[in-house]
Amino acid sequence: MGAELKPLQWVEIPANCNWKVTVENYSECYHCSLRHPTFANGVVKPSTYDIQPHGKCLRHTTECQSLEDMTYDINSGFEHYDEYSSWFLFPMFSAQVYPGNVLNTYHWRVIDDAHAVVWRGWYSAGGVEDAKVRALAIQDRETTVEKDIHLVESVQRGLKSRGYVPGPLVVDHKSGVNAEHPVMHLQRWFKEAVDG
Ligand SMILES: [Fe+2]
Repeated sequence: MGAELKPLQWVEIPANCNWKVTVENYSECYHCSLRHPTFANGVVKPSTYDIQPHGKCLRHTTECQSLEDMTYDINSGFEHYDEYSSWFLFPMFSAQVYPGNVLNTYHWRVIDDAHAVVWRGWYSAGGVEDAKVRALAIQDRETTVEKDIHLVESVQRGLKSRGYVPGPLVVDHKSGVNAEHPVMHLQRWFKEAVDG
């Protein structure tokens, strides 16, 4: 099936923030329950959300939400249909598989130090019309992505504030969805890239 997937839709999302802010936002899910009720209550089960580093990849895994609460029909007939997973490849690409085996991607692009663009790709078998994938792309853009834009732009304003002080990270790989160890790994990778 995988080899037959082709792009169905591209969604371009400008964000007035440094690209690293949106990559960090993507790499933790403690904000999901508060900021993404559609995603947290109708797509994934945040209590099972886990992110682990593998080389310079951050691997996200989680179970889907209870079937009666899912916002769409995930019964695809393929294995792993009831899981969500994502592979974030440092520094700026991620492939996600939503429950129901729906592939979608993030390509982050830098405009300048305070502006980025995220291209969201959505795929279907053979690239043929697929109402479920289209609906999911719209749902994602109008809920999860919309909230994240406000979140990352707010962080960007905070970074410019004279009162800004880098806060501590909650670094405990056992503390599940509330842990910030993926952000710690990202910040190390950023530093290594700059320091050579
Ligand atoms: Fe988010």
